[in-house]
Amino acid sequence: MIRIRPAQPGDAGPLVELTSQVSSEEGAWLLASEARRSVGEERRYLKAVRRAHQHAAVYVVVDGERIVARLSLARDPHPASRHVADLGLMVAASHRRRGIGRSLLEQAVVWARGAGVTKLELHVFPWNEPAIRLYETFGFTREGLRRGHYVRDGVQVDVILMAYHVPA
Ligand SMILES: CC(C)(COP(=O)(O)OP(=O)(O)OC[C@H]1O[C@@H](n2cnc3c(N)ncnc32)[C@H](O)[C@@H]1OP(=O)(O)O)[C@@H](O)C(=O)NCCC(=O)NCCS
Repeated sequence: MIRIRPAQPGDAGPLVELTSQVSSEEGAWLLASEARRSVGEERRYLKAVRRAHQHAAVYVVVDGERIVARLSLARDPHPASRHVADLGLMVAASHRRRGIGRSLLEQAVVWARGAGVTKLELHVFPWNEPAIRLYETFGFTREGLRRGHYVRDGVQVDVILMAYHVPA
């Protein structure tokens, strides 16, 4: 059975593994070509998130015992934009096109409403057509192209900024 639940510190190992797998895909979907955090760092991050309540959240999708997807949310720290949160998500290649990405966006909206966040934003690479299609189908719109905004494997790359205004 597939279900979504908040991530626990004990999920750190499988989450780093999932990130490594998705990061190393040829599509170059994510910011780095390898997992950014060690298992220990991920565990510490998940512990901090558990205490952060309305400031950040991580959800996982489990298929039986296996973690097959992740959603991360982080609220903007500036008081003038505390109604905004950034999100990131990934689904294991084995589990794509089953509606998991869409369910994670629905979960993001539920979290946003509970946290008083009214705008969700994200960055996506221009070549990531699957993700752009998912976001546009859901209702995200393009807010701009940020040129040379990230360095991926030593090269500056453009990224599209997209956002979704959470309906009241
Ligand atoms: C992008 C990603 C999260 C989509 O997850 P998913 O679970 O496969 O998406 P869903 O099954 O919920 O798809 C919902 C809709 O998005 C669109 N979509 C998703 N994948 C698509 C693809 N490969 N091609 C075209 N449209 C696609 C479709 O409209 C789809 O609806 P449909 O299947 O009824 O046609 C997933 O492909 C992924 O993890 N990719 C690698 C990591 C990544 O790119 N993360 C986002 C970084 S910004």
